[in-house]
Amino acid sequence: MTVRNVAIGLIAAATTTTSLSLNAQEPTDGAELLAQSGCAVCHGAEGQGTAAGPSLAAGTLSLDDFVAAVRQATRTMPAYAAEVLPDEDVARMFAFLEAQIAEPAAAGRADVGAELYSAYGCYSCHADEAQGGQHGPRLGPDPITFARFSWYTRHPTRTMPPYSAVVLSDQDMADIYAFVEAQPQPPPLESIPLLAP
Ligand code: HEC
Ligand code: HEC
Repeated sequence: MTVRNVAIGLIAAATTTTSLSLNAQEPTDGAELLAQSGCAVCHGAEGQGTAAGPSLAAGTLSLDDFVAAVRQATRTMPAYAAEVLPDEDVARMFAFLEAQIAEPAAAGRADVGAELYSAYGCYSCHADEAQGGQHGPRLGPDPITFARFSWYTRHPTRTMPPYSAVVLSDQDMADIYAFVEAQPQPPPLESIPLLAP
């Protein structure tokens, strides 16, 4: 396989994953590799995530962390050893996924988002200002990336109820995200006498 031949020198040089070089001149390679290696079955053809696996096109992992995740089995995901899937191939997948990272499809409107956040009941677990509470974690300000936020809301893996696109549209998602992003920063620790360092 020519991809492998090209990669050999790079792999030889890459004794640690930190020296991996991204090689994105053939972006379709990454998509093919995702399909061939079976990743697409769980993570979607473009890494957008399915009910069986999280979005990979989410901009949340560095290349090193991405490689480490591929090498490490979890309860649901098999491990892929370097002999089966060389570092250079994983780097090609990563380069492809980086180009797929979803931004909100439409501009989010924080004021509309505030109403939706209330109407859909997010506040009942995540609290009125998305600061989190007894029944759900803090969502904002500074939320996780939009791609991951959207994927989790559609495919929660633990106790949160799922909100499909039929119930909550992509525009709604963008609006709620804008509301969460617009929340006030928590007070600095120095301003709370008991917690001041
Ligand atoms: C059988 C389904 C399945 C297959 C096949 C699969 N994965 Fe996963 N993957 C998962 C699940 C589920 C998780 C979330 C962790 C967990 O619960 O196991 C995950 C997690 C990950 C993560 C960590 C994501 C994060 O944000 O922390 C990466 C990276 C990843 N997979 C890449 C891949 C790649 C690349 C392939 C193909 C070489 C692949 N996976 C094949 C199901 C799968
Ligand atoms: C019944 C309680 C409940 C409701 C209602 C709820 N959530 Fe959640 N949410 C949770 C819990 C609990 C978690 C932590 C993970 C888990 O258990 O699923 C979570 C996690 C999340 C996460 C992932 C946060 C992270 O840092 O990974 C996002 C994003 C999210 N919720 C968004 C929403 C949105 C948007 C709504 C409304 C449309 C909503 N949630 C409604 C309970 C809830």
